[in-house]
Amino acid sequence: MKILVLAGDGIGAEVTAQAVRILDAVAGALPGFERADAPIGADALAAYGDPLPAPTLDMARKAEAILFGAVGVPGDEEIPYEKRPGASLLRLRKDLDLFANFRPAFLFPELIGASTLKREVVEGLDLMILRELSSDLYFGEPRGFGTNAAGHAHAFNTMAYTEPEIERIAHVAFRLARTRSRKVCSVDKANVLEVMQLWRKVVARVGLEYPDVELTHQFVDAAVMQLMRAPKQFDVMVMGNVFGDILSDAAAMLTGSIGMLPSASFAQGRKGLYEPVHGTAPDIAGKDLANPIAAILSVAMMLRHSFERPDLAARIDAAVARALSEGYRT
Ligand code: IPM
Ligand code: MG
Repeated sequence: MKILVLAGDGIGAEVTAQAVRILDAVAGALPGFERADAPIGADALAAYGDPLPAPTLDMARKAEAILFGAVGVPGDEEIPYEKRPGASLLRLRKDLDLFANFRPAFLFPELIGASTLKREVVEGLDLMILRELSSDLYFGEPRGFGTNAAGHAHAFNTMAYTEPEIERIAHVAFRLARTRSRKVCSVDKANVLEVMQLWRKVVARVGLEYPDVELTHQFVDAAVMQLMRAPKQFDVMVMGNVFGDILSDAAAMLTGSIGMLPSASFAQGRKGLYEPVHGTAPDIAGKDLANPIAAILSVAMMLRHSFERPDLAARIDAAVARALSEGYRT
C-alpha cells in the first residue's frame, strides 16, 4: 500500500505532521506499508515554478491513497490559475477524476456546547454531504474575463453537467444510503436552472434502481434553511460541486467548528484522497494552534475506505474520542 502525503500550506503542514504520526503508529499493522511525501502549493511553486509539479502529480497517480493537508496563500486569487497554490487542489481533483467527495458532519458529545445551535437540534447529528467534485461551475467552459458589446468588463463561468456525470454520483449516493439509513436528499435549483433540471431528472431515474432507498429533492435555498432548522431529518445529501462547497461548510458549522471534520474523495474504485475540510488558516499558521483532529480522522477514513481496515480506523476514532473526553482541547 503506497500512501502519498501532500501536506501543503499553512496549517495543512502542521495538522498533516500530526496525522502522519498516527499513520506511522499503525503502520506496523499494515503489510507493505510505504509512505512518501511530495511538495504541493506555495513551496512547490517556489521550488518548481508550479504549485502542482509533474513529479508530484506522477506520484499522486501511482499512490493507492493520498493524505492531503491544505493549500492556498493569502492573496491567492490574484495569481493566475495555473500558478495559484490554492488551485493545485482543483487540478489534482480533476486529473485524478475524484468525482465523489464524502463530507461527514457529526458531533462529538463533549463538544456539543461548541455548536451555535441548541443542544436538542444538533445532539446525535450524523449526516453525510456527498459532493460531486469534478464538474459544475468549477470546471465548466467557457469561463473567463472579457469586455461586452457595451464596453463593460464582463466575467463568466459555465454551470454544466452531463448525464453520465450525474448518474455516477447518484449511484454513489444510493449505495452509500444502503450502508446508512436508506435516505437520500438530492439538492438542486431545478426551479431556475436547466442544468439542475437535468440533475433532478437523472437522480430520480437512477433512484428507481434503488427502491429500498427513500429519495427526496430539495431546492438548495430551502435545503440550507432545513439544515439550520432541523438537521437530523437528513442522512445522505447529494449535490453538485458548488452547492456542495457551500452546504458542507454550513453542515460543518452545525458541529461548532469546521476544524474537526475529515473528508474523502474517490474516483471509481478504492483509491482515495483524504483531507480535512478546513483550509490553510493563515491567521493561526505557524503558531502550533491548529486542531489536528480533522487530519487524524482523515487517516481513519483512509484505513476504512482505501485499505479495508475498519479495525484500525475504529481505534483511531476511539483515540480521538478519548482525548476529547479526557478534556484535551486546543
Ligand atoms: C473545499 C475548498 C476548495 C473548494 C477551495 C480551497 C478550492 O473550499 O474543499 O471546500 O472550493 O472546493
Ligand atoms: Mg469549501
